[in-house]
Amino acid sequence: MSEILRAESVTVKFGGVTALDNVSLFVAKGEFLSLIGPNGAGKTTLLNTLTGVVKPVSAVLKLEDQNISGLQTHERIRKGLALTHQIVRPFTSMTVLENVAFAAGFKKVRKIWPSLMTLDRAPEKEKAVRFLEMVDIESYRDHEVSKLPLGVLKRLEVARALAVEPKILLLDEPLAGLNSQEAGKLADMVKEVSRQGMTIVMIEHNLSEVLRISDRLHVLDNGRNLAHGEPAEVMKQPRVRAAYLGG
Ligand SMILES: Nc1ncnc2c1ncn2[C@@H]1O[C@H](COP(=O)(O)OP(=O)(O)OP(=O)(O)O)[C@@H](O)[C@H]1O
Ligand SMILES: [Mg+2]
Repeated sequence: MSEILRAESVTVKFGGVTALDNVSLFVAKGEFLSLIGPNGAGKTTLLNTLTGVVKPVSAVLKLEDQNISGLQTHERIRKGLALTHQIVRPFTSMTVLENVAFAAGFKKVRKIWPSLMTLDRAPEKEKAVRFLEMVDIESYRDHEVSKLPLGVLKRLEVARALAVEPKILLLDEPLAGLNSQEAGKLADMVKEVSRQGMTIVMIEHNLSEVLRISDRLHVLDNGRNLAHGEPAEVMKQPRVRAAYLGG
């Protein structure tokens, strides 16, 4: 498999806290990679560094053959990175469909205001419906976002990310807060998106789902790389077990 994304020498500091210390990560085209590790390991910080939301002390970031380290977040999105958030944050004044149409329009015109203008346009709406179908929430299309249950909001996050038609989908705890049945269903849906060819990097604490759907694991602990490789092999490693048991 060819490599689609690579991060090297990623160091991030927040004041006196070193959140990431010389971390590296690679992602193969088409793979489903799960990024795991205890609370505070630096997982979200690593994805935020990839998208440019966090400014690293040092980092070499490559998407396909291009160095993206110096690019702004919107430029990285345009090049093919999309991120969902640990805390869902849709536009609450819009309907479900409008949220996704907005994301589809953003891909096209790449600016906030013009993409607001495209909200009523048929092509974006048609596209948005397709993504709502993909995550199985099209029955909520005209609902106001502010009144939706978390399970639907989590799916909406994924639909919004898919709507920018990324090369890589970065998911930050898509299953968090869901009961085990809902989590299983959403994990199936993410796996289906992966089967259709999307490259996925997923941060997730739900290890049984992670082990069920991932091709490979990358483990961070306390701001450092701990292990990566085939899921069952990684979970057998004593240092990975120790990190999870806190000892
Ligand atoms: N904006 C910030 N300002 C200050 N410190 C931060 C900030 N964001 C993260 N940190 C710190 O950086 C470290 C890594 O945090 P990060 O959120 O990346 O961890 P995580 O692996 O995503 O954890 P979790 O599983 O709890 O989401 C932690 O010590 C955290 O407190
Ligand atoms: Mg996090």
